[in-house]
Amino acid sequence: MTGERTENCRWIRLPEGGVCYRVVTWLVGAVEQEHWERQQTTKSQLLQRMQQAACDGKSGEVHACEKQLNALNLSTIAEAYDFRTRDALALTRVRGLREAMHADEAVLGFRLGEGALSVWMQLVDERSPREHLAAWCAAASDAPWSGQSLISQQSSKEAQEELRQLCGPLSAAVDEEAEEEKDATNFHHVTVLAEEAVSALLPDEGKVIVDATLGGGGHSELLLRAGASVWGIDRDPSARAAARLRLKGKGDRLHIVAGNFGDIKQLLNERGVHAVDGVLADLGVSSPQLDTPERGFSFRTDGPLDMRMNPSQERKAADIVNNADEQVLADILWQYGEEKAARAIARRIVQQRSRGPIRTTGELADVICSVLPRKGRLHPATRSFQALRMAVNDEPGELERLLEGGYELLRRGGRMSIITFHSLEDRTVKQFFARVSTPELDRPEWPAPRPNPAFGAKLITRKPIQPAESELANNPRARSAKLRVIEKL
Ligand SMILES: C[S@@+](CC[C@H](N)C(=O)[O-])C[C@H]1O[C@@H](n2cnc3c(N)ncnc32)[C@H](O)[C@@H]1O
Repeated sequence: MTGERTENCRWIRLPEGGVCYRVVTWLVGAVEQEHWERQQTTKSQLLQRMQQAACDGKSGEVHACEKQLNALNLSTIAEAYDFRTRDALALTRVRGLREAMHADEAVLGFRLGEGALSVWMQLVDERSPREHLAAWCAAASDAPWSGQSLISQQSSKEAQEELRQLCGPLSAAVDEEAEEEKDATNFHHVTVLAEEAVSALLPDEGKVIVDATLGGGGHSELLLRAGASVWGIDRDPSARAAARLRLKGKGDRLHIVAGNFGDIKQLLNERGVHAVDGVLADLGVSSPQLDTPERGFSFRTDGPLDMRMNPSQERKAADIVNNADEQVLADILWQYGEEKAARAIARRIVQQRSRGPIRTTGELADVICSVLPRKGRLHPATRSFQALRMAVNDEPGELERLLEGGYELLRRGGRMSIITFHSLEDRTVKQFFARVSTPELDRPEWPAPRPNPAFGAKLITRKPIQPAESELANNPRARSAKLRVIEKL
């Protein structure tokens, strides 16, 4: 079974066949009062009608009422979910409830809206759905339970469909994950600076280390081998599937997390982790991302202009190429790709797209080559493609947030080990590390140096570590890698 968790939802691919139960229970004071009252009035009218129909022996009418009640329950959940942002109080009162959901083996999926909790479950022990409900109530006694609930039996196919309706985007991600799992065995990425980046973190038994770029699990494998517990984050489902496969049976100390590493602190805090001994990041893309034409990262093979590391993300490269203002395009190419011909390329893209959208990596590469003729070994589209990829995936923003969040998570003596692949990334890491490792600041206009309020770390690498010749001989993609390390004081 494959599944995905978020705070308010766990979505698991249901096994075919078998009986499921849907338990819907309402939470008081967590929906807008007027809405709640309207729902309750309609509901009691329907129940009365149903009772009357049952007394009169009108089974068709009973069935029709039942259907309407079901639809009402579902709409309550769906609508209540939309209240999410309006009622922060409700969220704080249901924290224990989420934990109870995640802890119950019988729960296949759940959706927690601000108005109702709906749970899809299968029986795994002697306990009935109602007994499970009682256990959730006991586990989360401060949640605003209304005492009203509805339990219905359904086939796993129906349950699957309802989960799909309520958790649409998430279910798509899970579906993709299941698909990717099939291909996980084809995921080949040669880990860069493996020993250097890992040993710099001093991994050992009992240590907790975040691998913020899990990828195929190369660095994580070494961390696990050294005895550490590892939290592996990746936003690409195919990478997570590959790592899961590779690290299967390598101990229960690996936790795989779907998400952006920019949210590292939140992702770990939500899982009860508030301090760690190490943070590792091996930035950029994995070889399978680059080498799979359908992912649209490369100009070497024609594919759709996509470039999303997380295929559930909305914005693709084609959206930027075909819709962004000429000036915005030029800025992206210049700032992220340091492309000297940024303006000319942006102008040519805008001219070209006025004749029809630019749809593929090959078409875009041709447009770029029409401005920049090929000279030397570097393909003229290299810098523009890097820039677009960075924009699509907000790589600079993610890196800034990773550095801040990861540093905050580090406990004293904890280390951060970052591998970069181009000058812009390396500059960001270098500047951040310098900022936190400089004890005093000085300026010509100051009479004396002053203490640096951000000071709290020491540099472990004064100069970046680069791959040895032997590594480059085996993996030319490592040629621009630079590793920098700090330790929190
Ligand atoms: C170079 S690969 C990591 C390879 C890995 N260290 C190994 O040895 O197998 C980088 C990975 O980081 C992921 N990634 C990049 N940016 C990310 C972000 N902001 N949040 C989460 N994952 C990210 C990519 O999807 C990719 O799988």
